[in-house]
Amino acid sequence: MKIISRFIIVVLLSISTSSFAFKAKENLHKADSTDNKTVNIIETKIDSLLGIMTLEEKIGQMNQYTGFWDVTGPAPKEGSAATKYDDLRKGLIGSMLNVTGAEQVRALQKIAVEETRLGIPLIIGFDVIHGYKTVSPIPLAESASWDLEAIKKSAEVAALEAAASGINWTFAPMVDISRDPRWGRVMEGAGEDTYLGSKIGVARVMGFQGDDLSSKRTIAACAKHFAGYGFAESGKDYNTVDVGTSTLFNIILPPFKAASDAGVATFMNSFNELNGIPATGNSFLQRDILKGKWNFDGFVVSDWGSIMEMLNHRYVATGKDAAELALLAGSDMDMESHLYIEHIADLVENNEVSIGLIDDAVKRILRIKFQLGLFDDPYRYCDPNFEKETIGSRPVQDAVLDMAKKSIVLLKNEGNILPLEKSGLNVLVVGQLARDKTSPLGNWRLGADNGTAVSLLEGLQKYDGNNYTFIEGPKMFDEEFSFPKEIKINNNDLSGLQEVISAARNADVVLLAFGEHAFQSGEGRSQSHISLPGVQQEAMEEIYKANKNVVLLLHNGRPLAIDWADKNIPGILDVWQLGTQSGNAIAEVIYGDYNPSGKLPMTFPKSVGQIPVYYNHKSTGRPKLPAPDEVFWSHYTDIDNEPLYPFGYGLSYTTFSYSNLNVDKVEKNKVTVSFEIKNTGKREGREVAQLYIQDVVGSVTRPVRELKGFELVNLKSNETKKVTIQLTENELGFYNNDGNFIVEPGDFKVFVGGSSNTQLEGAFKLD
Ligand code: BGC
Repeated sequence: MKIISRFIIVVLLSISTSSFAFKAKENLHKADSTDNKTVNIIETKIDSLLGIMTLEEKIGQMNQYTGFWDVTGPAPKEGSAATKYDDLRKGLIGSMLNVTGAEQVRALQKIAVEETRLGIPLIIGFDVIHGYKTVSPIPLAESASWDLEAIKKSAEVAALEAAASGINWTFAPMVDISRDPRWGRVMEGAGEDTYLGSKIGVARVMGFQGDDLSSKRTIAACAKHFAGYGFAESGKDYNTVDVGTSTLFNIILPPFKAASDAGVATFMNSFNELNGIPATGNSFLQRDILKGKWNFDGFVVSDWGSIMEMLNHRYVATGKDAAELALLAGSDMDMESHLYIEHIADLVENNEVSIGLIDDAVKRILRIKFQLGLFDDPYRYCDPNFEKETIGSRPVQDAVLDMAKKSIVLLKNEGNILPLEKSGLNVLVVGQLARDKTSPLGNWRLGADNGTAVSLLEGLQKYDGNNYTFIEGPKMFDEEFSFPKEIKINNNDLSGLQEVISAARNADVVLLAFGEHAFQSGEGRSQSHISLPGVQQEAMEEIYKANKNVVLLLHNGRPLAIDWADKNIPGILDVWQLGTQSGNAIAEVIYGDYNPSGKLPMTFPKSVGQIPVYYNHKSTGRPKLPAPDEVFWSHYTDIDNEPLYPFGYGLSYTTFSYSNLNVDKVEKNKVTVSFEIKNTGKREGREVAQLYIQDVVGSVTRPVRELKGFELVNLKSNETKKVTIQLTENELGFYNNDGNFIVEPGDFKVFVGGSSNTQLEGAFKLD
């Protein structure tokens, strides 16, 4: 006995006194010899630790609990919180989520480190999705910037604030591709395109993790939800997913692979079933692809209770079977099902699962804890002074303001109604959202306090050369809702509209702050209608009758079907939910201090019946109208096939022209595309130049167009710049139905321009 305990102490000392930092970047480049050394040292330490862990302690590492109790106050004596404290002391918890604050985390960590037998620190997770206390635009909005540097920076400051507050692991980025704006969680992703989504996912991973995971300014990231969650049938959250292999390999999986290649520390599996097998119990996804083909060496956490939910899927009959299948399938950590802690020991003792599987899961979890530097200093994320000076600091505010401006998309600007003159105007501002300081924060910002966004009205105050009248008008939604209940929308009461109409008659311009409240999108918030909610459409039409100079400031967490507005309202600015600095960003764009440059990361349909409508669709056997009034082709009889606004679309206060497209095949499977862009308007502006290809004939049918490159180009009035984009095998190939990446010879088309429907076309051939 004595010998064993001395051995424990020696091993622990050698672990906790290690002086090197474990670098995320180094983890990326394992081929390098120094890195190999670092990796080997970590692996040796993990093995020694594993060697002295009991089965119970190992399973404890695979167990994650949520914590909503006051950890710095007196510990509860009874109930589930007390049980959690007991489990923590026994070393039966490896991770906690939803515990925040340097002091609170320190108090918990202290129990893990000082009171458990082996003193293994906790990894503390939290949904830091688009900011922590200070928030950036919702991820879909950020994606409209196409600005990978700004997006990376936004994740970097989110990580900084979170890390300062005790958190060392975020459940982000969500890299689920989705083509269905009814799905509430489109707000949390990068939209419909796999190429853009992969680039943005990687930018976010790099932003969160930096190049040193052990720094007290960075946190571990998590690519979620693996996989297929964005393809829920009918856009209904948690619904069945049934997709073909081509869509799985070419559309759904690539952003996850990109995150894995970029060194993301963890993955989260998902609630949905994929082709009949729940993702949580899906070994094809987690073992064969992720841990096999992609060689991912981090760990996989289940989604909240998703192991337990395999019972509801009717995939297993008992909690024990659920634990067994999830483990066999490669889910390493159980988030809040409590089934690993209940059943795995029995499963091992009865030889139903091998200890090798447990060891592999535990090693993966310990590896990330080592990389985070938690064994060097378990309290490195728990410095209240650092927390105080970091949260809401200037650099953080600057980054989220920059991100917010870049996320805005100008959808329509007839007669150059925007930007507004800075003086001499009577401006009528209408709508509850104009004074709202909570909704602009968006959904999925658990760390931020209500009422902390700069409202539109506050943002406009800086531009005090104009006269403002604010009339709220008809109520849009009930502010007295309690999270996470459904938000109540006013569907019939138009009282207050007359006052708006009278004021509109005397205004030079009307700014309509209309659209969705933040809690109309997000998890569990799918919708069958995606037009302006409640009475807003009717109110807008009436206001427009009184004054045609209307600018619709569209607040939204998803693409909305605003066909009438597009036909009638002269100015439409998509302002999403832009985060803490929302009002300041919108005001700068309204007045032209920032020239909008965003491009839609997701198609806007004309009507909900067109969904799914996305730019990279297939040709079908009947793609075109054969003759006027013919019916036998792929179309609707009551609406055309074109969306309202295509993917990649967005205007500027200036205009751009594209010319001199050149396509050169430099060598086998390598093509250089170059073209020129000219700013043909009067203002300086920024264009997102986009490159699409069409693989004309494929052994598996290919989309009509696929984004394969883009560049942000800043141009002064009249300035011209040349853009050159290289296409390599990565861009020219695709996954066949066996999941193999192939490049096929034959003809290709190239399209370049400022939107996915651009007409400037070139061609090349691969031998
Ligand atoms: C969501 C995840 C999230 C988790 C923890 C789940 O409901 O699907 O995305 O990370 O909760 O909050």
